[in-house]
Amino acid sequence: MYAKFHSIGAYVPSKVLSNADLEKMVDTSDEWIIKRTGIKERRIAAENEYTSDMAAKASELAIQRAGLAKEEIDLVVCATVTPDYFNMPATACIISDKLGIRNVQAFDISAACSGFVYALSVAKAFIESGMKKHVLIIGAEKFSSIVDYTDRTTCILFGDGAGAAVISATEDKSEAIIDIHASADGSYADFLVTPAPGAVHPASEQVLAQGLNFVQMKGNETFKLAVKTLTQDVKNILAHNNIDSKDIPHFVPHQANYRIIKAVGDALKMSDEQVVLTVHKYGNTSAASIPMAINDIYESGRLKKGELMLLDTFGGGLTWASGLMPFAGE
Ligand code: UT7
Repeated sequence: MYAKFHSIGAYVPSKVLSNADLEKMVDTSDEWIIKRTGIKERRIAAENEYTSDMAAKASELAIQRAGLAKEEIDLVVCATVTPDYFNMPATACIISDKLGIRNVQAFDISAACSGFVYALSVAKAFIESGMKKHVLIIGAEKFSSIVDYTDRTTCILFGDGAGAAVISATEDKSEAIIDIHASADGSYADFLVTPAPGAVHPASEQVLAQGLNFVQMKGNETFKLAVKTLTQDVKNILAHNNIDSKDIPHFVPHQANYRIIKAVGDALKMSDEQVVLTVHKYGNTSAASIPMAINDIYESGRLKKGELMLLDTFGGGLTWASGLMPFAGE
């Protein structure tokens, strides 16, 4: 039994946070943000709109596009670092409930921006082992809930959104996911961290006063490591599968910063047509970034059945992952 990338869906909140808006909030400029990141705007969820709400909307679309009844989903995996609740229940359980899917195995994955590709590797393994047939995987973030909007080094980067895919069993090897490489190096854990709440820093007045509930990032160090790791990761997966970068119609990198994407694309000799870009309109949506980008090329008609996608991502942990597969949806 093989696993195929059966369908894609995404949801973005309607509220736009532009660079002009951020100019009024912190000491920054539209020019600086565009030059250093390529980001023009990002979406922000409504106050009463949570990760599970966005995820459920993206999932409805993915399930419908797979031509499945909800009851046919036998595993729900949600990748997020902005879960509805930090300890329990898992956001995947809440999403399942919002979708009306009961008695289904459901759990979350915490791998920051690499979460969706990590979830893909889990879905592939469950299907290939014969344990599941249709796995719903989700990358969803209400990142605005952990951003300090007085910190100009982080607040200009992140946005909210969700993407979902159905990964299904198939006996046809030509439509199967070809390969996934996923890895981590915890010695860089302090490069990207949300210190609280957690067992190290349980919620307290001091935690709030020190802003430990907000994301902290060593931006420049992360940037350099991202370029190096993403490039090497793609080279490895292409070499391992004997595929040339020019034969990849859709390179879907994590959307963290246009300069990172450009540097990696150039190092791999990819043309602008091959590289999928959404960072200008959505910013960095962490685990949601890759499925939102796939949905973007799907909805614009650029992604056709059978065409190869190369996914490549990097994030907190530090984690990284790449995946190679044909799009097996209609
Ligand atoms: O998704 C997970 C992975 N995350 C990433 O891959 C993010 C990686 N990092 C980045 O994208 C970039 O490092 C940033 C966009 C965060 C920062 O860009 P940079 O080119 O690395 O800038 P920098 O941190 O070296 O800062 C350069 C200058 C500093 O001023 P001085 O010390 O040179 O006077 C900063 O204080 O830019 C200043 N600066 C800003 N100025 C205007 C930092 N943020 C801003 C800002 N507006 N928003």
